[in-house]
Amino acid sequence: MTDPKTLAARFPGDFVFGVATASFQIEGASKADGRKPSIWDAFSNMPGRVFGRHNGDIACDHYNRWEQDLDLIAEMGVSAYRFSIAWPRIIPEGTGRINEPGLDFYDKLVDGLKARNIKAFATLYHWDLPLALMGDGGWTARSTAYAFQRYAKVVMARLGDRLDAVATFNEPWCSVWLSHLYGVHAPGERNMEAALHAMHYTNLAHGLGVDAIRQVAPQVPAGLVLNAHSVIPGSDSAEDKAAAERAFQFHNGAFFGPVFKGEYPADMMEALGDKMPKVEDGDLEIISQKLDWWGLNYYTPMRVSANPDASADYPATKDAPPVSKVKTDIGWEVYAPALKSLVETLYDRYELPVCYITENGACYNMGLDAKGEVDDQPRLDYYSEHLGVVADLIKDGFPMRGYFAWSLMDNFEWAEGYRMRFGLVHVDYDTQVRTVKKSGKWYSELAAQFPAGNYKSA
Ligand code: FCB
Repeated sequence: MTDPKTLAARFPGDFVFGVATASFQIEGASKADGRKPSIWDAFSNMPGRVFGRHNGDIACDHYNRWEQDLDLIAEMGVSAYRFSIAWPRIIPEGTGRINEPGLDFYDKLVDGLKARNIKAFATLYHWDLPLALMGDGGWTARSTAYAFQRYAKVVMARLGDRLDAVATFNEPWCSVWLSHLYGVHAPGERNMEAALHAMHYTNLAHGLGVDAIRQVAPQVPAGLVLNAHSVIPGSDSAEDKAAAERAFQFHNGAFFGPVFKGEYPADMMEALGDKMPKVEDGDLEIISQKLDWWGLNYYTPMRVSANPDASADYPATKDAPPVSKVKTDIGWEVYAPALKSLVETLYDRYELPVCYITENGACYNMGLDAKGEVDDQPRLDYYSEHLGVVADLIKDGFPMRGYFAWSLMDNFEWAEGYRMRFGLVHVDYDTQVRTVKKSGKWYSELAAQFPAGNYKSA
């Protein structure tokens, strides 16, 4: 572990240190003030989908406790907060009626951040699609992209004057592949054709969302948050290397290609083009508008080898074994060098704007000890190691502008429910008591140094 002050000296003084959350994971109050269900309410209330049939009805009760939570962020000395806005609070049926009390909540939240001198980084879509839109096919329908554009306009018209940055989407990889091909996340579909439709219409919605932001609040830096995969071949064989390239195109190229190059990966289109929706004239221009920034969410590498099964769908890969023996409690391999090579590869392959690490962190489930403290040394080590890599990237000249720890506090970890904990702050779900963990104290010692006097970025 590195001493926070020593680590701080490796970052420019204007580097942004923040913490991140997402609406469905923390807010609860799922029926309050006109909110209607999202696809995650439906999915989590369905037996067999989420661990223990946990749902988002109460979560961290942040909807009612937001002031204390913002105080906590301020007390920790953290100067930026990444949160997401719940579409079903703003336009409960996805289209149609606007729900003013929903907008009021985020209005107060953003004012609360400004009052505490905390930067507001908003995400418009972190997976809570209004359930009513499933009637038209959800993300597999082109109309959903236009519904998103309208929602983006409504939000930006109300909050745009006070946001420091906005992202259209969080991790399209999850809301597309994990949700429509692998069936793990809502709506739980397992179908390549559906997934490819969701892919294109999500990409289109991103582009239309950027349009909306630029029309209504052009002063707010607009970006996109991607969980790019650091794809590593399982061996040096030509087959495994080719498999890794296919995996790169499928898992990264499907989003980076259209957004940063205005094209889908050629091999992928050759293999899967017959299942694609119609890409209309002008779609790729809308999708590939220049962004002000992009966000990288990184946790663990993806190791792949070739799948010899002739009937395997593109990208025809299978998992290769981890190299590092260290794993977090959710089973993800800890391997910080993959973060370095990932950023290098992405800047090599695409023309990317400045980067924020918008999520990075580790799942460890230890609770309070006899002294009422949470000793989560492995999480602290994870942060220390990965932040060291970010400092190395800055030294090498990559335009890394900030880092957000996932997460401020333990929360609803999607299909894993509340059993998997990623927080710097422990949440007791019976009492809603928050306890800053050892890692949280370490992180706040680091974050509290910023902004610092040693500005050196361009
Ligand atoms: C990411 C999600 C975030 C959280 C972390 C652990 O994929 O964006 O909401 O669940 O994983």
